[in-house]
Order: sequence, then C-alpha cells, then structure tokens
Amino acid sequence: MNLVRTTVNHFKPYWRMLLVALIFSIIGGLFTIAPPVLVKKLVDDVIVGGDLTLLLWVAAGVLGAYLGKSLFETMQEYVQVKIGLDVITDMQIRAFRKLHRAPMSFFSRTPRGDMLFRLTHDVESIQNLNNTVVPRILQQVVGAVAAFSAVFVLFWPAAIVMFCVFAIYIIPSFTLGTKMRKMSAIQRDMSADMYNHLQESIESVRLVRTYQTQDQETGAQEKKLSDWKTFSIRAALIGKVNWRLGNLFNIAAPGVVMLVGGLAIWKGSITVGTLVACLTFIPVMFQPVRSMAEHALTIQQAIPALQRIYEYFDLPEEHDENLPAFGDVVGKIDLTNLWFSYPGSDKQVLKGVSVSLNPGSHIGIVGTSGGGKSTLVQLLLGLYEPDQGSVEIDGKNLYEYNRNSFRQQVGVVSQETFLLNSTLRQNLLYGKPDATQEELEQAVDAAGLKELIESLDEQYDTIVGERGLKLSGGQRQRVAMARAILRQPPVLIFDEATSSLDGETEERVQASLEELIPGRTTITIAHRLVTVRKADVIILLDQGVIAEKGTHEELLMQRGKYYELYRAQYSELERELIG
Ligand SMILES: Nc1ncnc2c1ncn2[C@@H]1O[C@H](COP(=O)(O)OP(=O)(O)OP(=O)(O)O)[C@@H](O)[C@H]1O
Ligand SMILES: [Mg+2]
Repeated sequence: MNLVRTTVNHFKPYWRMLLVALIFSIIGGLFTIAPPVLVKKLVDDVIVGGDLTLLLWVAAGVLGAYLGKSLFETMQEYVQVKIGLDVITDMQIRAFRKLHRAPMSFFSRTPRGDMLFRLTHDVESIQNLNNTVVPRILQQVVGAVAAFSAVFVLFWPAAIVMFCVFAIYIIPSFTLGTKMRKMSAIQRDMSADMYNHLQESIESVRLVRTYQTQDQETGAQEKKLSDWKTFSIRAALIGKVNWRLGNLFNIAAPGVVMLVGGLAIWKGSITVGTLVACLTFIPVMFQPVRSMAEHALTIQQAIPALQRIYEYFDLPEEHDENLPAFGDVVGKIDLTNLWFSYPGSDKQVLKGVSVSLNPGSHIGIVGTSGGGKSTLVQLLLGLYEPDQGSVEIDGKNLYEYNRNSFRQQVGVVSQETFLLNSTLRQNLLYGKPDATQEELEQAVDAAGLKELIESLDEQYDTIVGERGLKLSGGQRQRVAMARAILRQPPVLIFDEATSSLDGETEERVQASLEELIPGRTTITIAHRLVTVRKADVIILLDQGVIAEKGTHEELLMQRGKYYELYRAQYSELERELIG
C-alpha cells in the first residue's frame, strides 16, 4: 500500500479544514518577516539616521508581530491537531474493523502482542508526530519561505548563497534520514516482538510458576532487550550526527552571508541594516531543517508505524459481507464430503465427512481427541472453508451467503469458554443484548446457574472474569451455555459444553436442555458418551472419517469402537460406584 497516497486519501475529507490551517499558518508566517525588517529600520534609520521617534514604533512593531504570530499559529495548531486526531482515530477504527473481518488463519499465525502493539504503540507514535512535530514544521516551513522571499527582495545574492548552503546540506541529511528510517522499521519490529513476549509471559504466569521457568523467561526478555539496546544506540548515534550536521550548516551559513554582504556594503550596494536583517533571517530559514533533524526520531518512528497500520488495511477478509443475508434459518444442515486441512498444514483433518441433519434433530459427535470434531463445527460456522465438499444450510450454500447472518442464528458453546471482564448480566446478554429479565432467568435456570447467581450478593451485577469473581471451569461453562440458550437460536452447538460439570449437575442441565432443545437443530460434541446417549443419531469421528454412525442402541449392538468406548467408560463408572 502506498504510504503517501493512503495518507492523502485519509486526509481528503478534511481538505477544507486543512486549508484553514494553512491560511492561519501563512498569516502567522508573514508576521515572521516583520522583526528583521524592523531591525533594518532600527539600524538604518534610528541608529545611523538618528530618528529617535521611530524607536517606539519599531519596538511596538516587534511586540505586535510576536503577538500576531502566536495568535495565528495557535489557531493553526488547534485545527491541525484536531484534524490529525480525527484521521488517526479513523485509521485505528479501520484497522480494528479489518482485524475483526480477517480470516481465522490470520489469528493463528499472528502473535497477539503484535496486533496489540500496532493498535496501541504504533498509533501512539503517529499521534506524537501529529500533535507536536507536524504543526510546528508547517509553521517553520511557511516562515522559511517567507524569510527566503524577504531576503531575496532585500539582497538577492544572500538568498542564492543560502540556497546553495541548503542544497549542500540536504544530500548527507537525506542519506542519513533514509538510514534512520530503515533502522526505525527494524526497531519497531524488535519492540513489537518484545511486547509480544512480555504479554505472553505475563499471561502465562501460572504456567511459569508451576514449571519454574522464571529464569528462562527473564533470560529470553533480557536477550531481546539487549539486542534492542545495541540497535537503539546505533540508531541514536545516527540521529545525533544528523542533528549536529544541521547545526554545523546553521553556523556556517551566516559566515558566508557576512562575507558576501560585507563586500556589498563596502561597495555601497546595500546598507548595514540590510545585512543585519539578512543575518536575522538565517535562523528562520534554517529552522525547519533543524527541527526535522531534532525530531528525526519521532518522524522516522512514525513512518514505519504508519506502514504497520496500513498493512492491516490490506488484510484479506474472511468473506464478502455484501453477499445476500440468510433470512430465517429453519435448521436443515447438510455437510457433504468435506475434506479439510488447516491453512499452512498438509495434515488432512477431515477426509470426506458427510452429515445430514433435519430441522430440529439432535446429533451427537464423539471420538478420539484430535479426531476433527471441533474442526467440523468451525467449517459449519464458515470460520474456515473446506478444500472440497459443501456446507448447506436449508439447502443454501453457506459460502454464497453472508455467513454472519447465519452465525447470528446459532448458539455456540465452544470448548474454551471465554468470559468478558464484566458483570454476569453483560456476559449473559452478550449474544442477545435486548433479552428480557424473564428470558434471562429462563436461560439461567436451564443452564443450572440459578442457585449460584442467587447465592451472590450482587447477583446478576457481580463482576466476573479477570478482575472480578473467579468462576470455576464448570461454572464458566454454564454461563457460556446460558449465553447460547438465551439467543433462542434455531441451531445449537455444544462442544464439550458440559465436560467440566460433575455427573449430577450434568444430568440436571441435560434434563432442562432437553425441554429447550425440541424444534432446534442441535449438535452435541462430547467425550462422555452418556452426554449424547439420547441424540437422534451419533457419529463417531476417528482421524477425520466417520467410523460409525447410528443411535446409541444401534452403535452398542454393532460392538465396534463406540461399544469399546462405552465399555471403558462404563466399567470406570462401575468401579467408581463399587470403590
Ligand atoms: N488452528 C489450527 N491449525 C492447525 N491445525 C489445527 C488447528 N486446530 C486444530 N488443528 C488440528 O486439527 C486436528 C483436529 O482438531 P480438532 O480440534 O478438530 O479435534 P477434536 O476432535 O475437536 O479434538 P478434542 O476432542 O481434543 O477437542 C488436530 O490434529 C489438530 O492438531
Ligand atoms: Mg475439540
């Protein structure tokens, strides 16, 4: 993505305001001309000419110019910072939205820390550039152009000299700048990598403690930090050299102008006042260059940061959201001959799986761990697309419709339950924010959560999750279940949704679920066979193929793998009972 073009496009809607900022800065810049011109008057007319009455005017003029400059430049800064922040927030939202539309495979190959870094630190460094450096440099550029024009009018050879000095300076400065930008990009990636490790390490604190890998963790961070430090020192050195170079020219330039100007005074072609005015203009002309050198780091950091944000604008989308919506789902599901391997892996996870479900029917899926059960659900939800085969809902090809409109009508309890760091109510209402209290209580009751909630002081308003009440694995699962039920969806998917519940609670939840299930197409994945015993049909998925299929009784009669599994679990139960 072209950096300049994308940036310009983002600013386009604000062109009127930008013009206002530019006008303010031009007016502010014009005031810059006044003091040196007044100095010329001071030297030629007051000091040399002896006109004392002018002195007051000169002093008032300098003060007035300063006030005018400050006023207009403040207004310009305000407008510019505001536009800049509007644009940056637009960019941030655009990147965030893209992230949420990206295919799942993007999330499995991108470290979370990297995504966070882009949307926080990278944005921050762009803000730094926007809030201080850019408005200041614009003022200084306008001031420099005004000063250059003034010098040109006053004594054109000085302007030519200045231009030459400037041209000589630009070449090494440009080379150094390019080097700095490259280094900044590497530095950014290094920082993101460090951030990623930091985040992962803090998140896995329990693992680190129990496995006693603190030293290993610290060592890894130390290594990253030390690499970053070495690199940063080099980058800082180049920055300093660049700045010194700017200063050098800033000092050298007046020398040359003095030489040319002195000769001209001697020849009588200009007055002393003119030379003094030209010399006063020099710092103004050099100011933007000095500023760029001074803020080089901020500038050079923001460029790769912008690039990193723009990369997200180009993320592929999971599916085209302009495809037609599904309409009301009845719940007939046909998965036909599905072959699938995860992107980037050549392992076939599903090998020709076909399953058909009539509306309102209940299917149980069992099988060995890693057999492809959760993967099947992911394909059904359109989170991944099969390499071969089709997914049809009510006879419509899922991939030819807006998948979101289908997902909205599915209640899913996935294998890993995720709770928001918020109240129980907000967690429950997540999938249906407009549910009534009655619907809420019904869902809570069905998921066997009623007693727990009643026992809490703040009931539904109890904060759960990271900073609130910690729920047990089974309690979390029940919250997730209530969340799914609350949606009253035509399709329900439970992936190991009751695996953490004790037998008795599971049975109670199962019983209340059975009251709710009729009329809804339900898929239940379970390791415990009793969980799916009552399903209309059970499939046993083994290494990506359907090894067995039938009702609980039929499968037992077959005396195959299901039977073996059942016996293993059953005898375990028996042993437990006896023991
Ligand atoms: N995001 C992923 N990227 C690559 N491979 C994956 C991914 N998720 C799962 N797999 C692989 O796909 C296979 C099937 O995984 P899946 O999660 O569908 O199994 P499962 O039947 O649900 O197992 P379990 O009962 O343990 O939950 C496994 O071999 C796993 O390694
Ligand atoms: Mg699974």
